[in-house]
Amino acid sequence: MITRFQLNGAPVDAVHEPGETALDYLRKQGFTSVKFAAEDGETGSDTILVDGRAMNSGLILMATLGGRSVTTLEGLLRDEPFRTLQAAFVDSGAIQCGYCTPGMLLAIRGLLNETPDPGEHEIREALSAVYCRCTGYVKPVQAVVSYLATKNAKKHEDD
Ligand code: FES
Repeated sequence: MITRFQLNGAPVDAVHEPGETALDYLRKQGFTSVKFAAEDGETGSDTILVDGRAMNSGLILMATLGGRSVTTLEGLLRDEPFRTLQAAFVDSGAIQCGYCTPGMLLAIRGLLNETPDPGEHEIREALSAVYCRCTGYVKPVQAVVSYLATKNAKKHEDD
C-alpha cells in the first residue's frame, strides 16, 4: 500500500506493507537515527516527531501517517537552533555510547514545541521517556538546562 506524508519537510509516497511500522519503514529508507531496542516502545530509542510531538515509531503503523508530518533526527540536523542543542549535549558530556541520543534530542524537541521554556522537572519528565544505560540522566539534564540558559540570554541581548 501507499501512504503519502511529509518526511523531514518533503512529501513522500511511501510504499509499505499493511502492517509495517514507521520504525521499520524509516530504517529501510536509511534513517538510522531511529533505533530499535524494544517492541513495546519502552526504551524511546525509536522516538520520532509526528506533527511536532514525540512518539514511538515502533508503535505507529505507516498506514496511520497519511497527511501527517514526520521528523527524524536527520531532519532536525538542518535546523540551526537544534544543532545548538546537539552541541550542548556534546559539551556537557551527555553522550556516551550515543544509542539513546537521537531519542533524547527528539524528546526535548517535542517538549520545546509544546513548552518553549520548560523547567527542570519538565525536562526530566521528557527525558524519562528515553532509556539511557550510560549517563544516569544528570548530564543530559544539564545539557538542556545549559542550552535553554544560553538561548534565553541571547534572546534578552536581542530584545
Ligand atoms: S549514552 Fe548510552 S544509552 Fe544513553
